[in-house]
Amino acid sequence: MKIKTQTLNDTKKLAQAFASLLDEKGLFVTLTGDIGAGKTQFIRYVLEYLGVDKKVTSPSFVILNEYKCDKFPIYHFDLYRLEEKGLKSVVDELREYTKQNVLTFIEWAEFAYDEIPKDALKINVEYDSEDVNIRWFEFSSSDEFQEEFIKKLKVRL
Ligand SMILES: Nc1ncnc2c1ncn2[C@@H]1O[C@H](COP(=O)(O)OP(=O)(O)OP(=O)(O)O)[C@@H](O)[C@H]1O
Ligand SMILES: [Mg+2]
Repeated sequence: MKIKTQTLNDTKKLAQAFASLLDEKGLFVTLTGDIGAGKTQFIRYVLEYLGVDKKVTSPSFVILNEYKCDKFPIYHFDLYRLEEKGLKSVVDELREYTKQNVLTFIEWAEFAYDEIPKDALKINVEYDSEDVNIRWFEFSSSDEFQEEFIKKLKVRL
């Protein structure tokens, strides 16, 4: 399913709709796509909706940021600066976080593609070819349960 956001506020509404569907079981989410397309921004709005009051920054230099909210712990990975040697340990951590009752986001998941659980909910974010403010958020999964989640995602923009 592909959703077009024409403004930052549209992306906020989309993130809010997404966050409102989350229950205490959590979710494992991968984000891929163009540099600067809006992956971190989307996560920031989700966390804001969940009541995380810590500032959400890109964890590029530390690979992982952790947050807390009422429902579950939240882990935000960014694999962009991951070097080959670091991959193994991060992947082991990743596996740890795929257990339930955790909300996990992996930015630049394409850098550890083989290690990403196949039942992840995938979000691909891209620029529009004509208008730089328009971004396309595509939600997909090869997992039935995640597919159901995606079907419920409705937002009026
Ligand atoms: N419709 C839109 N949705 C999301 N962001 C938008 C939109 N229009 C403009 N922007 C701007 O695009 C930028 C997105 O930056 P962000 O850091 O979220 O991208 P990213 O995909 O995480 O980049 P990186 O690949 O570096 O991790 C922000 O500066 C934001 O203000
Ligand atoms: Mg980012």
